Amino acid sequence: MAIIYNEELKTFSLHTKNSSYQMKIGKLNYLYHLYYGPSMRDEDLSYQIMQYDRGFSGNPYEARNQRIFSLDALPQEFSTLQQGDFRISSIEVSNGDGSYSFNGRVKSFKIYDEKYELKTLPASFSTDKDHVQSLEIVLEDEITKVEVVLLYSVFEEAEIITRSAKVINGGSESIHLRKIMSMCLDFMNGSDLEVLHLPGRYGQERQVERQRLTHQIHTISSGRGSSSHQQNPFVILCNKDTRENAGICYGTALVYSGNFVAEIELDQYDQVRMLMGINNKQFDFELKPGEEFEAPEVLMGFTDKGFTGLSHMYHDFFRNNMCKSKFVHEYRPILINTWEATFFTFDDVKLVEIAKAAKKMGVELMVMDDGWFGKRDDDNSGLGDWYVNTNKIKCGLNNLVEQINDIGLKFGIWFEPEMVSEDSDLYRAHPDWAMQIPGRPAVRSRNQLVLDLTRKDVQDYLIESVNKILDSANIFYAKWDVNRSITDIFSTELPGNRQGEVYHRYILGLYRILDGIVKTHPNILFEGCSGGGGRYDPGMLTYFPQYWNSDNTKPIDNLKLHYGTSFLYPICTMGAHVSEANPNIPISTKGTVAMCGTFGYELDATKLTAKKIKECKRVSKLYKKYYPIIFYGDYYRLTNPFVPGNLTAWSSVTKNKEEALISVVVTNLTVNGPQEYIRARGLNPDWKYYIDILDQAVSGSVLMHVGIPIPREVPEYTSYQYHLKHVRK
Ligand code: GLA
Repeated sequence: MAIIYNEELKTFSLHTKNSSYQMKIGKLNYLYHLYYGPSMRDEDLSYQIMQYDRGFSGNPYEARNQRIFSLDALPQEFSTLQQGDFRISSIEVSNGDGSYSFNGRVKSFKIYDEKYELKTLPASFSTDKDHVQSLEIVLEDEITKVEVVLLYSVFEEAEIITRSAKVINGGSESIHLRKIMSMCLDFMNGSDLEVLHLPGRYGQERQVERQRLTHQIHTISSGRGSSSHQQNPFVILCNKDTRENAGICYGTALVYSGNFVAEIELDQYDQVRMLMGINNKQFDFELKPGEEFEAPEVLMGFTDKGFTGLSHMYHDFFRNNMCKSKFVHEYRPILINTWEATFFTFDDVKLVEIAKAAKKMGVELMVMDDGWFGKRDDDNSGLGDWYVNTNKIKCGLNNLVEQINDIGLKFGIWFEPEMVSEDSDLYRAHPDWAMQIPGRPAVRSRNQLVLDLTRKDVQDYLIESVNKILDSANIFYAKWDVNRSITDIFSTELPGNRQGEVYHRYILGLYRILDGIVKTHPNILFEGCSGGGGRYDPGMLTYFPQYWNSDNTKPIDNLKLHYGTSFLYPICTMGAHVSEANPNIPISTKGTVAMCGTFGYELDATKLTAKKIKECKRVSKLYKKYYPIIFYGDYYRLTNPFVPGNLTAWSSVTKNKEEALISVVVTNLTVNGPQEYIRARGLNPDWKYYIDILDQAVSGSVLMHVGIPIPREVPEYTSYQYHLKHVRK
């Protein structure tokens, strides 16, 4: 049983294969959080709680003069508001009478045998192979009748506990939600904890930072209307000695694509509280009597096997339980994208020429990027007009696709549905569809405005116009881009006092549009994009099996990008292309790096020399050869590119450990330096592996202990792909 309620002890114990989580209905029916860590039996872990008279920590009224009973010093599963707990709160609700108070106590609960469902937001799902149980605990404020329903699903084999919360206004007056967290995770003593997260910027997304907790509130958040380049909705709490192959870590990933926040407070008594959910920046959601609000799902994972163990759990979970697209499990063809080849200057003839040249490189899919629609000769116009520009695509889309298909390539197309240019037919017809604050000219970014996705008419227009294009030709692939952060938060559809709902309603509108386009086209391979990897988040990955990692295609920068991204996201989701950036780096190395993702090219194939075409063909062939290892295997970070060194290395090992691919890039060469070795990971120590480059068989234990010697008298930026294969006697 994954979830056990012990009547006598009043404990809820949640068990995955190797981890356990415990809560207890405590005094006055408050719900305590007692444990999250390695597997335990169903013992009562409240023995850890020591109570003292803590000055300036309030006592609930019913506790009367029991000065040792304070919520400020008790571990809580979902913290209250204005009840004497002064730490960061899980909820902020303004009640009908204007008071800010929520005194949630356990009213009821139920346990059932399937994954809970969210009606308005994307979430993970279970398959026939999973054992999943769910638990719902209702916390009620007896005075206001506001309820918070805590939702949990335990994926036993996957080692993931998903969590969400639902607020129901059971009272007779409207309330305003000002903050609602999806997850509250308390630690009775967390002074040893550190936080690891993935900050970044345009062109350098998901870098890795790790900090010691100090006595303050650490905030990791985005308030840009999307999960953003700058932060990612993923945080790891780990011990100070946690490393790749050992140590404890708690992963928390929010399945949401809008503003988010993770707050971690190390308080006066070294208690740690971590919250995660929708960012409460300009957030004020009205709930009328009887209405409910769903908070996005958090994917929680615990392991004592270090960062690699945690990444493997999430990688498998994304592959099996997050993305609904069939392409997660299917071969992703090698693509060529026209963006860096032509930018806005192309026509149908040029595209056909690129396709012909690309075919010789082993390319299987051609993607027509920005510039094919409306009046779009640069990035100042045309967004919103999703019809073919016949000055460029003179033969018509269907005919163009047929020509590309005849060459032997599949066809893909680019959209940026959420945006509008002022110089567009759409804006001229519906200026009120763009988000603008009345009386104030809107902030431009890339000279474009943001459509008000909270409006149903805008949602319907986008579903219809994008679907019309997708259905008009044999389209295999579509790239969904979004190229600015959101400002001018205002919807003409909502009254003045409900503008605090716009950020969230935008995302709800986006998910409805994606439901109407992505889910209705199960045979189209969608790739997400936001000026590179700006909205690369778990919410988006429920729709898109792959995401463009970054507009930065420089291979050496990509070593860091892949490293950081891989903490949460599997390789099969990372768009990675060989481009003309860094002309002095050989194509073989660019290929090695781009094979750490959904491989493709981002260049003008018609301009490549015959020698380069041949080299690309060789690299494309390797990608196809190694595809099953890279896409379905376990990924290992073998070096940390953020630590200065001479080599960056990573590997993939098939689940049955029969084969592995170790990739190494020489990023620097110290003169007359020491011989360096890359140690393998994840092999079967008792097997012998044949290594193609060395033409020798070496045992797994030696490869993991001693490693492979990497030649040093080589040009800088040389790369190696060592293919290891189990030698059967
Ligand atoms: C963004 C994307 C690029 C390209 C351009 C087109 O920057 O990340 O790949 O599609 O938009 O405008």
